[in-house]
Amino acid sequence: MPLALAQSATPMPHNMAQHGMTLHDHAPAAPTKQTAPKIDRRTAVHFPDAAKRATLAEMRAHLQALGEIQMALSKSEFELAARLAENKLGLSSMHGDMVDSARYMPAGMREMGYAMHQSASQFALEAQNASVSGDLHPALAALAKVNQNCVACHAAYKLK
Ligand code: HEC
Repeated sequence: MPLALAQSATPMPHNMAQHGMTLHDHAPAAPTKQTAPKIDRRTAVHFPDAAKRATLAEMRAHLQALGEIQMALSKSEFELAARLAENKLGLSSMHGDMVDSARYMPAGMREMGYAMHQSASQFALEAQNASVSGDLHPALAALAKVNQNCVACHAAYKLK
């Protein structure tokens, strides 16, 4: 029996499934788990319309880049993975629209952006190492770190 079910004192409302809810929604909050919070505590940051559009387009490109990097890794194309990461997510990618938009960010958000770019450049190094060592694990860990930096900023900020 799942722990949440065992701890739950109240019976599950019969309409739960209709609302797309799972038992997890009624489980006590697990502080270490990064799930969508019930209360939106993200800081709303105002971006002018054009900057918002450009930023969200850039975000979608980030997600695409992560997928391309994963695909390259799956084919042991380490140099390609490194290049994609450095050029599309890494410190070398810090130019253009995003840099313009960065001036609307509070300092904490800008730092998280920088941390993400930095971790992508670190991944690029690990991917290059993998091409020599043949050991994929450090690169995978570095890629997970990039992903964590995406998640951390999304948990803290939203645009308005
Ligand atoms: C510095 C902060 C920050 C970082 C780092 C960041 N994002 Fe975002 N991202 C945002 C914000 C803010 C939004 C808008 C969220 C909202 O308003 O609800 C967003 C939205 C998105 C969206 C939705 C785009 C849309 O069209 O609505 C995607 C996809 C996304 N991010 C992917 C990523 C990926 C992948 C990474 C990491 C490689 C990443 N982001 C890193 C701040 C960040």
